[in-house]
Amino acid sequence: MSSDVAAFHAALLSSTRLLALCGAGLSASSGLPTFRGAGGLWRNYEATSLATMRAFNTDPGLVWLFYAYRRHLALRAEPNAGHFALAELARTKQDEFVCLTQNVDNLSQRANHPLDQLLLLHGSLFDIRCSNASCSFTQKDNMDDPFCEALAPAAQDFPPGEPNPLLDPYHRIKHVSEEELPKCPLCKTGLQRPAVVWFGEDLDFRTLSKAEMFLKDGVDMILVVGTSAQVYPAAGFISKARRRGARVVVVDPKAREHNETYGLQEGDFAFAGDAATLLPELLAPLIGKTKGDGTFER
Ligand SMILES: *[C@@H]1O[C@H](CO)[C@@H](O)[C@H](O)[C@H]1NC(C)=O
Ligand SMILES: *[C@@H]1O[C@H](CO)[C@@H](O)[C@H](O)[C@H]1NC(C)=O
Ligand SMILES: *[C@@H]1O[C@H](CO)[C@@H](O)[C@H](O)[C@H]1NC(C)=O
Ligand SMILES: [Zn+2]
Repeated sequence: MSSDVAAFHAALLSSTRLLALCGAGLSASSGLPTFRGAGGLWRNYEATSLATMRAFNTDPGLVWLFYAYRRHLALRAEPNAGHFALAELARTKQDEFVCLTQNVDNLSQRANHPLDQLLLLHGSLFDIRCSNASCSFTQKDNMDDPFCEALAPAAQDFPPGEPNPLLDPYHRIKHVSEEELPKCPLCKTGLQRPAVVWFGEDLDFRTLSKAEMFLKDGVDMILVVGTSAQVYPAAGFISKARRRGARVVVVDPKAREHNETYGLQEGDFAFAGDAATLLPELLAPLIGKTKGDGTFER
């Protein structure tokens, strides 16, 4: 395992087909919390425990407040240099690069990442579907903020220094009842819910098969960006790429201390730091020098 940038550039230039697997760390410097590890709590709830159908069935108002808050943050955030670098890489290597992202924040799309080279493994915060799994209702690109009247507390901004009561578990917030949430316009019985993949739910079959089809034609390098890669099936792509002969390249603040988790071996690379700083530098031989506004100079 190496952290040598020059050696990485040589490996990159001798690679043809590239895959990226991205996680919350890619959007961290855009100001979006990763909801993992320290700070992984939202109002004293484990973020992962809110991301389940069981939680939604128990208290849909609470789960919706969490997602409405994340929608609000994502709408206010801007894509960073890491999103722009991957988008430029996609334009540079059209049929030879696909980005699999676990992020639901729409920031890669807003960085103009070519959509046919971006596979949304976990859906999007801005797509809506019905809580009844057998109902086919979907709505794309819903930007309502707040999503509905009852979720207004999730879309409030506070001046710097003034705490947001929504983030303070000791500050009571008004309970949002099921009746205050929008029903599905199609079946009229289900509730509308974010079309993100919750724990225990299957990933979209078509998205997965597109990823498998790319892998089938071989992959020389997989960039693992801002993800601890511990959630399956997303994490399985690292070992699948390796079986196809790919080197593994981790770009993450914890890349080096977690080398065992990623199963890093000789010939792999680990770069510890922020994706927004590292990706433009690492990908420069292919994408050129970033001008900082999403454009690049060759
Ligand atoms: C992984 O990290 C451990 C602890 O820092 C270190 O001892 C080990 O040599 C590293 N493994 C590789 C392959 O670099
Ligand atoms: C997501 O990004 C695309 C591409 O920029 C844009 O057309 C769309 O409106 C965005 N959706 C939201 C909800 O921000
Ligand atoms: C779920 O939707 C299906 C198809 O529209 C419908 O037949 C069924 O009654 C719905 N189930 C519930 C619990 O509303
Ligand atoms: Zn429905």
